[in-house]
Amino acid sequence: MRQFLLGCPQENVMTDIADHPSNTYDIEKIRSDFPILRTEVHGQPFAFLDSAASAQKPRQVIDAISAVYDSGYANVHRGAYQLSEVVTDNYEGARDKVQEFLNAEYRSEIIFTRNATEAINLVAGSYARSKLNCGDEIIITEMEHHSNIVPWQLLKAEKDLVLKVVPITDAGELRMDVFEKLLSRRTKLVSVPHISNVLGTVLPVKRIIELAHSAGAAVLIDGCQAVMHECVDVQSLDCDFYAFSGHKLYGPSGIGVLYGKKELLDAMPPYMGGGDMINTVTFEESTWAELPAKFEAGTPAIAQAIGLGAAIDYINNIGLVSIAKHENDLLDYTTSRLNAIDGLRIIGTASNKVSVISMILDCAHPHDMATILDRSGVAIRAGHHCAQPLMDRLGLPATARASFGLYNNQNDADQLCQALETVQEIFG
Ligand code: ALA
Repeated sequence: MRQFLLGCPQENVMTDIADHPSNTYDIEKIRSDFPILRTEVHGQPFAFLDSAASAQKPRQVIDAISAVYDSGYANVHRGAYQLSEVVTDNYEGARDKVQEFLNAEYRSEIIFTRNATEAINLVAGSYARSKLNCGDEIIITEMEHHSNIVPWQLLKAEKDLVLKVVPITDAGELRMDVFEKLLSRRTKLVSVPHISNVLGTVLPVKRIIELAHSAGAAVLIDGCQAVMHECVDVQSLDCDFYAFSGHKLYGPSGIGVLYGKKELLDAMPPYMGGGDMINTVTFEESTWAELPAKFEAGTPAIAQAIGLGAAIDYINNIGLVSIAKHENDLLDYTTSRLNAIDGLRIIGTASNKVSVISMILDCAHPHDMATILDRSGVAIRAGHHCAQPLMDRLGLPATARASFGLYNNQNDADQLCQALETVQEIFG
């Protein structure tokens, strides 16, 4: 049974997920908050099972974004008029919400970016570029999304670094024994996902961070697939950097977050130059603004940040503990139904996993599965999921991936299983 943090984000009370009653989780009320779930696709109820790619938005988030453009829009940090001050307060208020959500010590440790990809590139382009030298090592894993591979490859070519990769087991768990052996005094950075976007595996990030720190390496956690399923407490984790995207957290696209420890961010050079990130500018030289502005050049994603704040409010109102319990029950239910389908194999069977289910069928290619499922109103993702090296490790060209959000229910899982039977009737 999965263990997780109760009373997030500040309390570190480990509890058993089964201790939580599910009768407080009003799934019908939650579903009614998401207008898109009332639509039909090909005349069928819409079973949206692609939240790992991007989550749907509740009315509360849509309204918060509309309100910005209806009655509360101006540029931030610049206008000497009331509306700009109000919008600045709302934008900075969203930062406060993220700080509390992650339990960061300082609000200035929260940098708004476009998405997690940009957050990782910021760490690569600023922290790693300025700190790492020829022969220094970066450790990633075999289950990485491309966004946690390519930025390091670009830097590796530029600075002659060494990129090391921790393998996984056939079940999709990280080989911690190998990780420990790969760590050395040459290791300067460890960058790993909190949760795999393909396998659903929850990595033992706290242990990874402890081990990396004892080798003297900094740690970046790609939390893209975690923040909507787990309580994340960056102080308890003691990670140096933590990245996530707003759009997977029921917020808008175009907004992401980089958390970084203040002393590290303070010492890092700017990543992008432009307005808002400076203190003074002459043609000879410029000086930089304090955090977080130093890393937020140009007009930011104002409405998107405010929308992200509304998404965090929405999640807090339901409670991440209740969400995790609901999703875990649904994962168990769906997994046992899928295991009963002949010729279907689930890819990723780690003992600690979240509601991301990759699968293959003997009789059909994942893309064909996704096409037939779509005709039955079921939306899934098929392909390599931006994780081609992982597909190579698994010896597969692609998988079909169903992923759940807080709004999915057993009907969605039943519709998926029924549609998979249709695939088998067509291709079997
Ligand atoms: N990273 C997103 C996914 O896994 C797009 O689908």
